Amino acid sequence: SFLGNRVNVGCAGKMQKGNEDSRDEDVLYHLPYANLERHHDSDNVVVPEVFHEGRATHLKSLDEYKKLYEESIADPAGFWSNIARSFYWKEDFPSATACTYNFDLNVGPIAINWFKGGKTNICYNAVDRQVENGLGSKVAFHYEGNDLEDEHRDITYEEVKDEVCRVANSLKEMGVKKGDCVCLYMPMVPELPIAMLACARIGAVHSVVFGGFSAEALAGRIFDAKNNVVITCDGVMRGKKLIELKKVADEAAKLSQARGHNVGHKLVLQRLGPEKCKVDFVEGVDHWWNEMVKPQSTVCEPEWVDAEDPLFILYTSGSTGQPKGILHTTGGYMVYSATTFKYAFDYQPEDVFFCTADCGWITGHSYVTYGPLLNGASQVVFEGVPNCPRPDRLWRIVEKYRVQQVYTAPTAIRALMVAGDKYVKGTDRSSLKILGTVGEPINPEAWNWYFKVVGDERCPVVDTWWQTETGGHMILPLPIPGLHMKPGAASLPFFGVVPVILDEDGNEVDGEGQGFLMVKKPWPSTLRSISGDHERMQDIYFSRFKGYYMSGDGCRRDKDGYYWLTGRVDDVLNVSGHRIGTAEVESALVLHPAVGEAAVVGIGHDIKGEGIYAYVTLMNKFQPDDDLKKELIQYVRKEIGPIATPDVIHFAAAVPKTRSGKIMRRILRKIANEGSKVDKDGLGDVSTLADPSVVEALIETHAN
Ligand code: WTA
Repeated sequence: SFLGNRVNVGCAGKMQKGNEDSRDEDVLYHLPYANLERHHDSDNVVVPEVFHEGRATHLKSLDEYKKLYEESIADPAGFWSNIARSFYWKEDFPSATACTYNFDLNVGPIAINWFKGGKTNICYNAVDRQVENGLGSKVAFHYEGNDLEDEHRDITYEEVKDEVCRVANSLKEMGVKKGDCVCLYMPMVPELPIAMLACARIGAVHSVVFGGFSAEALAGRIFDAKNNVVITCDGVMRGKKLIELKKVADEAAKLSQARGHNVGHKLVLQRLGPEKCKVDFVEGVDHWWNEMVKPQSTVCEPEWVDAEDPLFILYTSGSTGQPKGILHTTGGYMVYSATTFKYAFDYQPEDVFFCTADCGWITGHSYVTYGPLLNGASQVVFEGVPNCPRPDRLWRIVEKYRVQQVYTAPTAIRALMVAGDKYVKGTDRSSLKILGTVGEPINPEAWNWYFKVVGDERCPVVDTWWQTETGGHMILPLPIPGLHMKPGAASLPFFGVVPVILDEDGNEVDGEGQGFLMVKKPWPSTLRSISGDHERMQDIYFSRFKGYYMSGDGCRRDKDGYYWLTGRVDDVLNVSGHRIGTAEVESALVLHPAVGEAAVVGIGHDIKGEGIYAYVTLMNKFQPDDDLKKELIQYVRKEIGPIATPDVIHFAAAVPKTRSGKIMRRILRKIANEGSKVDKDGLGDVSTLADPSVVEALIETHAN
């Protein structure tokens, strides 16, 4: 929870002042637990020739990529303006302000502007323009429901346009105006991207909250963004689980009201119906989608907004207990999400694209809602989970819709790999052209399985490194004839991206080497701010090393100039491709009456990539036992959501601290990962430990 009146926010312990302090010790210092195997150049795989045979690939050769890349760096404003002008602008942007920025806090506040002064509308470009260009009857969404028996709907661009306008008119009826922020708490149904587009159409800002977040987490986001309207759904089945979204939204609205912010309206899509999912309804506040949206006009003039007007905020975890609302604006995000989609997936007009991400994450924003539609693409929108009812589900979908590009996360690949090849082999994947991955470093074993078993060695694997903050792909092996792919390497920068590696002293590392991954110049979809707190955004991303954007990731550059991501350098975990702040989990734990102090670190996990390991010290009168463990795990799930479920609770008499009271996470991380096998002499500098016996005790009580 990160609501304002909770004093222990961001606090590891009840008794101490707070872990803003206790975190100083090694935030942004620790080298990540890299689980990448050592790479041999013999492992390189050249983009298979069958991929480009008979295909009009956008990039024909490495030289073409290099030429375009160099142009994009030499003249970013010119490079991106040319692309921007292939979109519709109600009023063109002045070339002089195509790109103006300050990236250096020494000079002044951080400011990033692309195409400022131009007037456009991203919804118009994604939807109306496709219809005007003759794609009205083309399928925008192949909707595949959770259950195999579910009705599968195809929705054309024309139909998307009509529904977007109806929703947009409904939003207006509920009083939403340009600049207002609307919360979307929905499952992965076509109405979710449609609702996002409806907001954009009228110049409202959307804040999508992943449907797996708890009432507490949702309330925090509603409160922070001051949403007056929440769009939700009665409930949904994800795999075999019922998720009662409306109930959670009601609870969140109550929690928000208790803190002084009132939600005025809820628009509720009926997905399951009263037999499967009953909901409470409050007259005048709750509105059924069918009753409110259906009768609306299909005409709704787009609001022509400035390129720098906000498009959306999306909350993500950082190293404090409080998720931050990353702000993206209209023009730059439009241009960049569309362009990365086109090149990363080599999208061609007949292709069917399939991204498994939920729109609750940035991947769903850029590569379900905006990138594909801005390119007039057909895509699969999948409500369910990859292994339900069986681990062949994804490949069955590929077969059914003749999918060309599939885009998923290493955690899903690993889970399907473990389930066995037979689930893949029994399906027809001959339509596939490209295999995309995102969210965390992909281990070479999973890479090879994806390449060999899923793609039959015919398809390039496009491993895309990027972030909520970057809006679109930053580093990736573009599917280019002749390109060497290195399993596990995010590889090369996209157009306009200038990655820099800094050592601990802030010196740029030339050639081979490793350190902090930074970006030297703004790209069009650079985050603009943190909603309501520009200073915090400057602190987090621009203050430690001046003149660069700090990604928070560690990185290595090899002799060929390929980038290898080694993991986060701050206290953010990456669990199944989802970012979770250790401080968020700690804050949740210490709210429980039994918990005196909590310290959370990441551990290696075969499927999830990283798991959550929580050291917990108990208040005096509580006994450490299995029931309490279970209770604490449930407690975190309730406070944040199932994605934050701790894998291990380690009851500890005390956690190691420096004499000034700071928790030594470096040691905790090592013990969590290595258990009783930990090399006591390899714990690094322990001279600042207040009580060395604490470490011994932890090793003895380790769960392994
Ligand atoms: C990690 C997801 C290695 C990284 C788009 C980053 C990756 C964080 C990769 C962002 C990748 C994402 N290789 N690491 N291909 N993609 N990451 O904001 O640590 O949910 O900082 O955006 O995920 O997560 P976010």
